[in-house]
Amino acid sequence: MEKAKSTFGSKLGFILAAAGSAIGLGNIWRFPYLVGRYGGGAFVLVYLLSVLLLGSVVMVAEMYIGRRAKSNIVESYGKANKWLKWLGLLGVIVPFVISTYYAVIGGWASGYAVEYIINPVLIKNPEGFFGSFISSPIAIVFFILFLFATLLIVCGGIQKGIEKASKFMMPALFLLLLVVIVYVMCLPGKGEGHTVVDGLKFYMGQFDFAKLGWDGVLAAMGQSFYSLSLGMGVMVSYGSYTGKDTNLGKSALTVCALDTLVALLAGFAIFPGMFATGASLETIKNAAGPGLLFDAMAKVFSNMGSGAGNIVGFMFFTFVIFAALTSLISLVEVVSQYTLEKYNWSRTKATCVFGGIIGLIGLFVCIGMGWREYSIFGFSLLDYFDMVTNQILMPIIAFAGCLTVGYVIKPKNVYKELAEMGSSFKGQKLWMALTMSVTPVLLMVVWVMGLVDNFKPEAFGASYGWVVGGAAVLMVIAFVWNLLLENTKFQTWKQNKKLASEAAVEEYTEEESNN
Ligand code: PFF
Repeated sequence: MEKAKSTFGSKLGFILAAAGSAIGLGNIWRFPYLVGRYGGGAFVLVYLLSVLLLGSVVMVAEMYIGRRAKSNIVESYGKANKWLKWLGLLGVIVPFVISTYYAVIGGWASGYAVEYIINPVLIKNPEGFFGSFISSPIAIVFFILFLFATLLIVCGGIQKGIEKASKFMMPALFLLLLVVIVYVMCLPGKGEGHTVVDGLKFYMGQFDFAKLGWDGVLAAMGQSFYSLSLGMGVMVSYGSYTGKDTNLGKSALTVCALDTLVALLAGFAIFPGMFATGASLETIKNAAGPGLLFDAMAKVFSNMGSGAGNIVGFMFFTFVIFAALTSLISLVEVVSQYTLEKYNWSRTKATCVFGGIIGLIGLFVCIGMGWREYSIFGFSLLDYFDMVTNQILMPIIAFAGCLTVGYVIKPKNVYKELAEMGSSFKGQKLWMALTMSVTPVLLMVVWVMGLVDNFKPEAFGASYGWVVGGAAVLMVIAFVWNLLLENTKFQTWKQNKKLASEAAVEEYTEEESNN
């Protein structure tokens, strides 16, 4: 049975696994779009600042919280203060919820990669393909396969599963992306206004602060946060598996740099590709989310023609698969680690039980996206889950994580512990200063402004209340859970009940054997 003592086999393994979690769909389908929309270079500048002031600071804080406890996220927060376990519990609930839709999208990407090899229709007639694909049972089959592959890797454990998979998939992901970019850069284009250079100009050529605006600043902060997998258990969990002498500052900065690099590079494949294959400006401007990946990009490959289009399309979607798979692994690991440590289950049992539940809920998400479209509170299940976690809960967890390090554990103890772990790093005083002031303040500003914006009639209006309500329910569940975990009377009652049922089983077995 695996215990918390397992660690990554090497520092590189840890960095690749954490970068694998960070590099995901967010880098591919949101970042390039935000750059195009919010003034190109101006957005990139604010994004970089946000990665440094917000992302990297929270990342070190989360890795440290896990590193010092060497345990799952609930115990990690519990070690700082037993009344902070609710934060850890939220940190288990959030990845659990995100996994359900992330696996669905990973399944679509897998389906597309295969379709490029076996189905000539996708290249010949991409119009409407996505709609019919997600409405067909094939989407469900690929969702199940994708989830199954994830569970298999997580069952393999930290070194033999997650680390090994990341060490293969991360370099492969870079390579695939580079090949696609090189191919796109060589496209001849379709006349004036439709060349690779026009794409580059649209993506990076502008430096327009007027287009950026306050909205763009908020979007940059929110994006840095989601993209770096912060505000949930992932970095705490992966941090708990680090060996002695891991330099947390350097590791976090490397992960941030790799994540930002892939986000920037993705745009170099997407925009020049769309321009050079003749996409309309309207399509290009609105290219985000599933529409970008599965519709707009499919048209790009289709315009490359059979043969080349099939190969480049296959490579692009394999890149998406690797990005999504390494992220989903990290989400499932958080939930698995908690259960296997808390209930003393084997890794396989913990992963399969929760994987099964994720699969069941994911099935509803999958069906709701196409086959039998339905909505809750006016949102698709996917959007609803995404908003509750991404917009409401993740910033709260990250905010509380900063305060936990700065004000509960306190700087003096943090420095002492870092030195004992061999994890001290240059600039840790600056990190601590940011953790205790600028970063949590920024986080709260983003959170409140986002909330205010979303309640506006031109956004979601009053129906956004259902999103806030959903998040509030999850928070109450976590609070009550924490209360019960720490209530001695409840725990004694539970213990007695367990002993009584064990005694009853023993008695029964004795009687059986006497008969
Ligand atoms: N960072 C991932 C992305 O950019 O797509 C998304 C994500 C993965 C968020 C894992 C959170 C997480 F724990």
